[in-house]
Amino acid sequence: MELGRKVERVQKVFKEAKKKFNPPREERMIKVELPEDEIPTSWYNIQADLHKCGMKLPFPTGPGMANLPLIFPPSLLSQELTKDRWVKIPEELMEIYRIWRPTPLYRCKRLEEYLKTPARIYCKSEYVSPPGSHKPNTAVAQAYFNMKDGFEGVTTETGAGQWGSGLCFGAALVGIKCDVFMVRVSYYQKPGRRVMMESWGGRVVPSPSAPPERIYEDMVTETAKKALAEDPNHPGSLGWAISEAIEHALKKPYPLNYSLGSVLNHVLMHQTIVGLEAYKQYELIDEYPDIIFGCTGGGSNHCGQAFPFIKDKLDGKKPDLRIVACEALSCPRLTRPKYIGYDTGDTIGYTPHIWMHSLGCDFVPAKIHAGGLRYHGMAPLLCVLIYSGYHEAQAFPQTEIFEAGRILSMTEGFLTAPETCHCWTGAIREARRCAETGEEKVIHVADSGHGWVDVRGYDEYLKGKLEVLL
Ligand SMILES: Cc1ncc(COP(=O)(O)O)c(C=O)c1O
Repeated sequence: MELGRKVERVQKVFKEAKKKFNPPREERMIKVELPEDEIPTSWYNIQADLHKCGMKLPFPTGPGMANLPLIFPPSLLSQELTKDRWVKIPEELMEIYRIWRPTPLYRCKRLEEYLKTPARIYCKSEYVSPPGSHKPNTAVAQAYFNMKDGFEGVTTETGAGQWGSGLCFGAALVGIKCDVFMVRVSYYQKPGRRVMMESWGGRVVPSPSAPPERIYEDMVTETAKKALAEDPNHPGSLGWAISEAIEHALKKPYPLNYSLGSVLNHVLMHQTIVGLEAYKQYELIDEYPDIIFGCTGGGSNHCGQAFPFIKDKLDGKKPDLRIVACEALSCPRLTRPKYIGYDTGDTIGYTPHIWMHSLGCDFVPAKIHAGGLRYHGMAPLLCVLIYSGYHEAQAFPQTEIFEAGRILSMTEGFLTAPETCHCWTGAIREARRCAETGEEKVIHVADSGHGWVDVRGYDEYLKGKLEVLL
């Protein structure tokens, strides 16, 4: 009897050692990669399935509707409205996507070990794109369709500069111009981003500003004058910068259109190329996420990664799938909205009134380092899912998100963007919870970008000088 137990124990030790030193292939894998010819050739349009959550997408309304055909090319307007489930990606665009796609799906074992969690943590990393984030997935598409419809340029707003640099990159690749209104506080906090945009041929000005700070005369706007009359040291906000860019697009100093980096249906649809790739990557290793975390500025990164999985939930195939939108505690549109209903997408009111969770279009957020999460509203498609209970949201303070970023850089080596640190915070909290309960959950993180030009926030955090900014 005693001998039998000893043999059993020895066998168990051998089995564990074998597993540790010669684990099965799927256990060994760190990077799940797709071959280039597996890049999805159509985007997924959730509008075809959204009604299954029990609610329809409320239609935009108000005087701003008249501006839409004046600031968007016909092809993108039709993508905004289509109910087709799959929208084909033109081959010329596929050729551009192949520069950095498919992106890897990583298994974060070192982070798991650090957290002593039985959960398996995966992240789909969009920082491998040349501008370093998910933004080029829609930027190249928007630049491409503008060029195809005969326009010579695009104009936009940018917060932290990720969207602006994505669009300048996209415009350069399809051979059109790009004018960017960059939120003033970020323009001075992140000079590296401005240089990136200018290197891709963009013209960048702080928003709001006036000459001589506004260096290009044809980019002077009435909107900026109004904002500066309110406060000569106005820090700027995405709401004001959007108004500036739309005014510029309406004035058309040359044939150009407005381009938005998030919120709109077609933008979220372009980003689904990421989630569709991730779906195939999970199939390769026979896994499926139990919970998905993505940070949300206007919702495009998170929805792009989550929508192909949410389709399974809407179809009743994965009723227990949890999806969590992660936002900044100082800009809590989803967790503490001022109201849920119709609001304009910009401060002046050039855009239509869109149905969303909002902090009010005149909201000027705290100067957090995650500039891309400082928007007052949220993508209506995501708001419908949250409102109907299909989706969750969590908010995190600035100090906790930089601690998550520090843990990630010390374990996996990724120096991630402050925006992206929000979804890592959610994932780390969940993995720690699993460590307590023993649950072997599969946690997916929608990793939207690197933080190489956002190091000032890390610097303040590491020196203990970071403001909490609740
Ligand atoms: C790295 C990164 N992640 C996420 C976001 C949030 O935007 P969205 O919700 O549209 O993905 C931004 C916005 O600038 C960003 O730069």
